[in-house]
Amino acid sequence: MEFSVKSGSPEKQRSACIVVGVFEPRRLSGTAEQLDEISEGYISNLLRKGDLEGKSGQMLLLHHVPNILSERVLLVGCGKERELDERQYRQIITKTINTLNETGSMEAVCFLSELHVKGRDIYWKVRQAVEAAQDVLYSFDSLKTRKAEARRPLRKVVFNVPTRRELPIGERAVSHALAISEGITTCKNVANMPPNICNPAYLAEQAKILENDYDKVTTTIVDEKEMEELGMGSYLAVGRGSVNESLMSIIKYDGAGDDSKPLVLVGKGLTFDSGGISLKPGAGMDEMKYDMGGAAGVLGAMHALVELNLPINVIGVLAGCENMPSSNAYRPGDILTTMSGQTVEVLNTDAEGRLVLCDALTYVERFNPEAVIDVATLTGACVVALGAHATGLLSSHNPLAHELLNASEQSGDRAWRMPLWDDYQDQLESPFADFTNLGGKEAGTITAACFLSRFTKKYNWAHLDIAGTAWRSGKNKGATGRPVSMLTQFLLNRAGQEQGE
Ligand code: BES
Ligand code: MN
Ligand code: ZN
Repeated sequence: MEFSVKSGSPEKQRSACIVVGVFEPRRLSGTAEQLDEISEGYISNLLRKGDLEGKSGQMLLLHHVPNILSERVLLVGCGKERELDERQYRQIITKTINTLNETGSMEAVCFLSELHVKGRDIYWKVRQAVEAAQDVLYSFDSLKTRKAEARRPLRKVVFNVPTRRELPIGERAVSHALAISEGITTCKNVANMPPNICNPAYLAEQAKILENDYDKVTTTIVDEKEMEELGMGSYLAVGRGSVNESLMSIIKYDGAGDDSKPLVLVGKGLTFDSGGISLKPGAGMDEMKYDMGGAAGVLGAMHALVELNLPINVIGVLAGCENMPSSNAYRPGDILTTMSGQTVEVLNTDAEGRLVLCDALTYVERFNPEAVIDVATLTGACVVALGAHATGLLSSHNPLAHELLNASEQSGDRAWRMPLWDDYQDQLESPFADFTNLGGKEAGTITAACFLSRFTKKYNWAHLDIAGTAWRSGKNKGATGRPVSMLTQFLLNRAGQEQGE
């Protein structure tokens, strides 16, 4: 799909379709007004007859509008003008793209990017529009033998900006959005891949592909033998029940030369989490193929980053592993020695993510990181607390937490901070080891982060729990591509890239 920006008036466009907004009740937007004038009241006449109220998401497709050069005009309901917010804006764009895709326009000039959205500039509106369009056009059908293809699919969308002065900003927004969308697509493709195909070796292959495709990327793979030598007893224990070898992929992007400390992203990559000996219930267990959503998010962010060619150093770690029951599996009661030397009593083999991550987090100390952010589908408790709308953010470093919250606010890929007070640490006490891997019934997301915090004392660290946001269940089951947008925004900000005006 192709995107571009231009600045022009609607009546002068010669396109398969022009898209303009109508507010509730039956009020034309500025651009709709211009079309109405040149067509001698054709549009206002239709509205008067009651064809379109202007409620948010309503669509009316017109053909052969008098004196208009374009083949079609799509009127899009935008709700009450003063109430148009970010969520509605995205929904309107999504519906518009779907309608265009289904009604035979292969290209369109869209004026919705000129609508006023509270507190947002043209950069934001164009970028969100392109990201939203790429999001709805995505489908995972590489494993279907019969693919449902649109008859005359949408090929090209031009977003209009109010004046020529805004063209460079609009172009920057398109190019940022395209890079981020590529990362999001990578994330979705890997996350949606079934667990019989997507195992730790598959994750490692994806990391290698990035190395092959981009000069500034080098990828190394840490296998079980090397983990053994490094003393990663905790990570190894989780994978022991699976015939698929645990593999940790290290993706290095060198955008700033050697002297600059790297940012490190660590993704939980459980390609399947059965729970192990503490087996999960059967219903919905297929969704635990998404337990590598953190690794997919890191891979996606790395992909976006290399596309953007940012002048920073970043290392992405995909902590690949499979948690299975077997006679060789680790058990409740086992005491593991982590790479840090600290010992952990296993009380539940289903609290495996933290056991894999803790050793990965110790491993990355060697990079002398500027900051470390781990990304994980870590706790069901996070889904209870925040649902599908916000990623959980926990951090022992306030400035880093604020940077991430800012990035989430800017990108619309939302996160919400939870506390990491020492008061919760007591829930991890063990009679036999340094601590346990289980924090009990209360505050599961926080106690999981408390566990990780014991391995991240040597650098600035934040943790993103994406258990609720990484994928959708039910009829629209599928990976969301989150938190690629937030992470990439964070990297854009770190790289000091200009965005709006
Ligand atoms: N991968 C799961 C967390 C999860 C569950 C994410 C459901 C999304 C939806 C994780 O490994 C897990 O099983 N966590 C347990 C921890 C518990 C045993 C302390 C959980 O949340 O139930
Ligand atoms: Mn688990
Ligand atoms: Zn898990």
